[in-house]
Amino acid sequence: MRTLIAAIMAATAMASGHPAIAADDIEARVEASRAVAKDFAQTLQQALQTALATDGPVAAIEVCNVAAPAIAAQQSSAHGWQVGRTSLKPRNPANTPDAWQRTVLTRFETEKAAGKPMAALESWEVVDVDGKPAFRYMKAIPTGEVCLSCHGSNLVPDLTAKLAALYPADQATGYTLGDIRGAFTVTQPLP
Ligand code: HEC
Repeated sequence: MRTLIAAIMAATAMASGHPAIAADDIEARVEASRAVAKDFAQTLQQALQTALATDGPVAAIEVCNVAAPAIAAQQSSAHGWQVGRTSLKPRNPANTPDAWQRTVLTRFETEKAAGKPMAALESWEVVDVDGKPAFRYMKAIPTGEVCLSCHGSNLVPDLTAKLAALYPADQATGYTLGDIRGAFTVTQPLP
């Protein structure tokens, strides 16, 4: 009987295109994704705070413009995963969510509205990406005080000018403290 159930489960997994993934493997992938998101957040926040304190917000744009994609690229190649940030209102069009990411971001907004704490807004799933199975993970990024100088309302004119020059399609302003600014996203291709 057990063999039969295993055979049916294997057949179902094959039919869905996903190999049967053990629960402990999923757990390890969640942990690894959390670690990557935390590392991304801390590295960027430190660089941002130093730049804001020493050079001010206009110069600090360089940190987000150059350092954020660089951290994402470094982490992606270190793990062989796709690591990045996305948002329902992206500043950089390169961070536009795909269909799966958009669904998760929208669900985060609903969950937050229903009172779920920001720290608990994370999600993972095994889905097909370009016809191949992948483990996908997302974690919400809160809007903190330090973010408002570049993502809030009434930005200083110099900053607005520099952002407009770099990001003509910028949607990432008008946020208030505690809003969901976006999410970290990790895609791990599965063997
Ligand atoms: C000095 C200005 C500045 C500050 C301060 C700042 N950001 Fe940004 N942010 C940017 C720029 C510029 C980009 C576009 C980066 C790129 O090209 O990938 C960006 C992009 C992002 C993105 C990626 C999605 C998108 O909109 O393209 C997220 C998420 C984000 N910021 C969150 C934050 C959070 C959270 C904080 C506070 C901890 C913060 N930012 C503070 C300038 C800033």
